[in-house]
Amino acid sequence: MRARARAPDPGRDAVSPVTGAPGDCDLLIVGAGEVWSPAAAPADGAAGLTAGAVGGALQETPVVIPGGAVAIVGDRIVAVGPGAELERRWRPRETLDAGGGAVTPSFCDPHTHLAFGGWRGEEFAARVAGRPLPAGPGRGISRTVERTRKTPDAELKALIRGRLDRCLHNGVTLLEAKSGYGLTVEDELRLLRLTRAAAAGHPVEVVTTVLAAHALPPGYAARAPAYLDEVAWPVARTAHEQSLAQFVDAFVEEGAFTAEEVEPYLRRARDLGLGIRIHADQLTHGGGARLAARLGAATAEHLERATAADAQALAEAGTVAVLLPGAALTVDGRGGARPPTAALLAAGVPIALATDFNPGTSTVASPALCLGLACRLFGLSPEAAWTAFTANAAASLGRGRSHGRVAAGYRAELCVWEVPRARDVAYLLDAHRPRKVIAGGRVLEQGPVPWRLTEEGE
Ligand code: NIG
Ligand code: FE
Repeated sequence: MRARARAPDPGRDAVSPVTGAPGDCDLLIVGAGEVWSPAAAPADGAAGLTAGAVGGALQETPVVIPGGAVAIVGDRIVAVGPGAELERRWRPRETLDAGGGAVTPSFCDPHTHLAFGGWRGEEFAARVAGRPLPAGPGRGISRTVERTRKTPDAELKALIRGRLDRCLHNGVTLLEAKSGYGLTVEDELRLLRLTRAAAAGHPVEVVTTVLAAHALPPGYAARAPAYLDEVAWPVARTAHEQSLAQFVDAFVEEGAFTAEEVEPYLRRARDLGLGIRIHADQLTHGGGARLAARLGAATAEHLERATAADAQALAEAGTVAVLLPGAALTVDGRGGARPPTAALLAAGVPIALATDFNPGTSTVASPALCLGLACRLFGLSPEAAWTAFTANAAASLGRGRSHGRVAAGYRAELCVWEVPRARDVAYLLDAHRPRKVIAGGRVLEQGPVPWRLTEEGE
C-alpha cells in the first residue's frame, strides 16, 4: 500500500524476546480496575514507518481486561492477563497496587513545538475574540522566533527540560518535538541540538523533527524556493548527517508554503532517509494532505479543512492522520472547522492525537485533556481517542511495534489512573494527571511541575 516505507531508526525498538527466569519478574502491577490496550495490529497492516497503527473498527475495539495485571522484566512487559492468574504465576521483586485504577499505555505525544522562548499571552484575548492580533514589531510565529533567538542556550535548554518534566507528569513517555522557531540554518540546528541535549537522560524519549519550513523570515518574503534551498535544505541535510532529527515537516498554508513549493524539498529530505510529517489543511484547504499521500508521508497533521477525498488518499498511502484538538479549539473556536473524523475512520486511516503544545495556537501539554476534547470536538469515541494517543501516535513515530500497547514484548511504558476505566479519563475532563507513570519499567515519583509564566520565559 505505501509508496515508500522507511523506518527512521531501523531496528532500534523492534520487539525483542524477553529473557529471565520464568516466574520471576521485576515489577507486577496488580489491583487494576482494568488493563486497557489498543487492539493488536493485523499482520498485513501498515508496514515500515507506520507499522503497528490501526484504523477503522480496530481503532475502536481495544483489549480490556477487568481486574487485570501486568508483569514486567527490565524495561519490557512479559505478561498481561487476569490478576489472579498473574499473581499465581509471577514472583515479583516489587509490586505496585493500582488501587482499582485503570492501567493504560503511557501517552505518546506525536506533535509538539517544545523549543521556544517566551509565551504570547498578549495575543490570547484577541485570538479567542476573533480580532486581529495586536500590532507591534512582531506577532504570531515571528514574535516567538524573535524571542527564541534571544534566549541563551542554557536558558532555552532548561525551558525545554522543564517542559519535558511537565509532559512526563502528564503521562507522556514518548514525544515528537519540532524545531521551527529559528528560521536560519544556525538557529534551527541550535533548537534541534538543545532539544536533544535537554532530552539526554530524561525519562521521556524524544524524537526530533526539522520544521525549518514553518514560516518565511522577513529577508525571504515571497521567496519561498530560495528559503527552502538556502536555509531549510541545509538544516535538513545537516540534521540528518548529525543524527539531530528523524523527520522533516513543512507548514503547507497560505502565508507559509504551498504544496508545490515544498514538494521538491520534502522529496530530497525523504531521499536522505528522513520520514515526512506535514502541517496540512489547517487554516485553508491547501493540498497538504494530498501531498502527504503523494509522498508516502508518515503523517498529515491538523486536517481541519481536509475533505473525505483527502481521507481516501491518506488511507491508500498508509499515512497516519494526527489531529490536534487544542489547536482546533483555539484557532477555530466554537463550532469552527473540524477534521473529517467520520471519513477518516470510514476510510480506515489510523488517527493519532497530539497536543500541538506551542505558545500560540495550542498552549496545552496535557494529552488527557486533549483526549477529552477530541471526543467532544471531533466525535471520536473514548476508545478511538485512547488508541490515537497511544498505539497510533507511537506508530506515527516509527515505534508502533514497541510502544503504545500493554502487551507482552512491548516496552513497559504505562500509566496508572485514579479512575477505574480508561474511558473515564475522557469522560472526566479534569482527570489530567496519572497517579503513577512507569517509564522503561521504572515507577516514577510524581512531583508537582508548576507553570512559571513571565514575559520571556516560564
Ligand atoms: O501547529 N500551524 C503552525 N504552527 C503551529 C503554531 C505555532 C505558533 O502559533 O507559534 C501549530 O499550530
Ligand atoms: Fe504544530
